Amino acid sequence: MKVSVSGPDPLAVEARVVALAVGEGASPSGQLGERIASLLEEDGFRGEAARAVLVHLSSDGGPGRVAVGGLGPELDADAVRTAAGAVVGLVEPIGGTLAWILDDSLPLSHAEQARAVIDGLVMGGYDPGLRKSGGRKQELEGVVFVGGDDAVREEAERALVVARWANRARDFANEPPNELNPALLAEHAEKIAAESDGSIRSESFGPERMAELGMGSFGAVAQGSHNEPRTIVLRYEPEGSAFDVVLGLVGKAVTFDSGGISIKPALYMEDMKGDMSGGGAVLAGIGAVAELGLPVRVLAVVGAAENMVGGGSFRPGDIVRAMNGKTIEIVNTDAEGRLVLADVLWYAREQGATHLVDFATLTGAMEKALGDLYAGVFGNDDEWRDQVVAAGNRSGDLAWGLPIHRRFRRYTDSAFADLKNSSIRGQAIPAYAAEFLREFTGEGPWAHVDMAGPAFLRWPRPDYLHVVGGTGYGVRLIAELARSLS
Ligand code: BES
Ligand code: MN
Ligand code: ZN
Repeated sequence: MKVSVSGPDPLAVEARVVALAVGEGASPSGQLGERIASLLEEDGFRGEAARAVLVHLSSDGGPGRVAVGGLGPELDADAVRTAAGAVVGLVEPIGGTLAWILDDSLPLSHAEQARAVIDGLVMGGYDPGLRKSGGRKQELEGVVFVGGDDAVREEAERALVVARWANRARDFANEPPNELNPALLAEHAEKIAAESDGSIRSESFGPERMAELGMGSFGAVAQGSHNEPRTIVLRYEPEGSAFDVVLGLVGKAVTFDSGGISIKPALYMEDMKGDMSGGGAVLAGIGAVAELGLPVRVLAVVGAAENMVGGGSFRPGDIVRAMNGKTIEIVNTDAEGRLVLADVLWYAREQGATHLVDFATLTGAMEKALGDLYAGVFGNDDEWRDQVVAAGNRSGDLAWGLPIHRRFRRYTDSAFADLKNSSIRGQAIPAYAAEFLREFTGEGPWAHVDMAGPAFLRWPRPDYLHVVGGTGYGVRLIAELARSLS
């Protein structure tokens, strides 16, 4: 997709389709708006969110086709993304270049509109049918922002880079778990480094090195699978970066979570191929930061393992030792994400991360609380947590701050070890999981993004993420956070 800008007259742009967005109950603005108003009325289109119509004009000069996306009642960036996500479905079969008319009557700057349109077109046009015969839907050839300037073009180009990386993270999540195992994820990481013109360095290691380092917690999760675990490390160290900050991105990449001996019910278990979404977001996120050339150092550490049932599996009752020396009694092998993160968080801090954020599909209870829309964000430092939340909400990766407290620690008190990995009480599950993680984060700010709800959709969402499967959650948040630090 090529991004460009043009003067304010949509009739002067060469494009197969001209598109605009209309608020619910509003009349379409501009000269073109007046020409199509009665046609929209005939179609019964009132600017409803997630709805789009294509109207054909007689060829008395100007465009033959006009696509109109509904904004719904609330005129914000999410509405624009959703309108563009509806439009892309209509114009994708037509192909070619789309001219998008920027709207002065919206409470968003032209640059903000363009960014949201790109998100909607690129992420809304994503096709999860990786292995369908006949190929996947193609990206549009180009978008011209009508009435845009250089600032609009730059913002749109940045958004395009990030949205494409988000779609790449969706591919990782949608890959079947018989193919995307920890070793293949490590290869994807190497590819990301190889594509970065040397700005990202990649390294990964398996069970022997992990054992030498004392990663007994992460190692236990992986031991039941024939597919070996990988600790994947990517480093982005641009010239002229602010040297007092090293953004440490940590990801849970359980490439399939069967629950282990504490096995999960069969219903929807196939969705647990998406349990590597946190790790996928971290890999794609550092890829996006590097392609944008942001002047901030980033260290990405992803713990990749498969949680399986087998003769070698770890068991309830086992006691393991994490890299920081703490002992953990296993009471539920399905609470495996925190065991992986315990070691990779500690490792990332040892490797020099000053500001940590981890991304994980950690608790089903988080999805119960905030649904498929918001991630919950916890942290040991309110300011850092709020910065992560704010970056998420600016970017379209919706996030909400939640509390941790030292008294959540009692849920994971063990009679036999320093901690246990789960509690049979049904209280505060995401919060005590976060409190568990805090034990392994060392000194300095840390935030934990529990993205179990929005990472992987079981049902389509009525916005621009209207297909099931991976959403790329976290990639836009990471790019925005890195931008805020640079
Ligand atoms: N990967 C799951 C969490 C999950 C559930 C993510 C649904 C996405 C959708 C995680 O490893 C898990 O199984 N968590 C347990 C924790 C419990 C045993 C304390 C859960 O949520 O039930
Ligand atoms: Mn689990
Ligand atoms: Zn899991």
